[in-house]
Amino acid sequence: MDPEKTRALYTRWSGSPPDLTASAPGRVNLLGEHIDYCGGTVLPLSLDLGVSAAVGPGRPGKLDVRACDLDAECELDLEDLRPREDGRPADYRDYVAGVAAGLLERGCPLPGARILLHGDLPMRAGLSSSAALEIAVFLALTRFAGTMDFDGEAPQICREAEHRYAGVKCGIMDQFASWYGRLSGVLRLDCATLEYEVIPLEERRVKVLVADSGVPRELASSKYNERTAACDAALASLAAKAEEEGLEPPAWLASAGEELLEKARAGGLDEETWKRARHVISEQQRVEEAVRALKARDMDRFGDLMFASHESLRDLYEVSCPELDLLVESVRGLDGVLGAKMSGAGFGGAVVCLVRRGREKKAKAAMERAFRDRFGRTPPVMVVRSGQWYVA
Ligand code: GLA
Repeated sequence: MDPEKTRALYTRWSGSPPDLTASAPGRVNLLGEHIDYCGGTVLPLSLDLGVSAAVGPGRPGKLDVRACDLDAECELDLEDLRPREDGRPADYRDYVAGVAAGLLERGCPLPGARILLHGDLPMRAGLSSSAALEIAVFLALTRFAGTMDFDGEAPQICREAEHRYAGVKCGIMDQFASWYGRLSGVLRLDCATLEYEVIPLEERRVKVLVADSGVPRELASSKYNERTAACDAALASLAAKAEEEGLEPPAWLASAGEELLEKARAGGLDEETWKRARHVISEQQRVEEAVRALKARDMDRFGDLMFASHESLRDLYEVSCPELDLLVESVRGLDGVLGAKMSGAGFGGAVVCLVRRGREKKAKAAMERAFRDRFGRTPPVMVVRSGQWYVA
């Protein structure tokens, strides 16, 4: 996150400096993948990479927005914000409009403004650049309006923007991680209750690598929505089974339990729905174990659970792809490598790998070599650090 650069870009664009610059982080998810929308527990790490939004006075009733990384500009009418209807893929315009609409609907007075967006997070890499953008815009707009009254709802307002304006039925993890993620800590978020804590990650001893597969994710949002629908269907079948057996129906799929799932399977639950539910239920169990491991500083065990998570995402949830699988396999068994898995929605995007300090170069080289041999190009692999939002 580079507020200075964003400030300079704004000044060049507008002719005068911004009133303020807000920066919000992206995230990698260490464990708990595809269970946030099933009431599961997730373990994201907010990054020192993200999106910055510089803001200053604008025309009454208008937001003039410039997205530097896309070299694009748009004008939004604050009195007429609505989700796009032309079927084009969602982009920065929709995220900004969605956040502004959520604030206006809650009675936040938004003056006309000029907003310039600049990020250092690779886009479409599964590092949650859209949530970082939403939170940066939320911070810029509310601070510019002089209010902190809506802070308690920040992740929800930004998630709503994603649902209504970008058409992705995402869980709360990314927006929550960008808002509540803190330096040097893994966020443990219970998505059923929204109860959370920050568990220290010893970044002096453990390094986090992110490898971007570079695989385009055009169909990612429709496939994502297919998965959330499968989980809704699985929960409905499990609830029906529970009632048939005289048991309390589960409130969430993540905590429904294996026993009930197997009963439903024996009662005719189709194989595909069983696989999806099996991933969700087993991932929740892995997270619970991983939290104990993290608190006991047992990073070997934590890493094993990351590999197991990847296998489940690949075989049961079917959201991986050959590029992600190869990146994970290329570091398995390597000295000093603790664990690796895909991070985020999948169907492309990034792999996150935990290594002992001093081993990051070897792990990076192993990923690059294996990937180049098989796919003929070198994927970007970076060592990332934790980070949190700030306003300057
Ligand atoms: C995307 C969504 C999140 C979460 C992950 C998968 O990043 O935005 O809510 O579901 O995928 O874990």
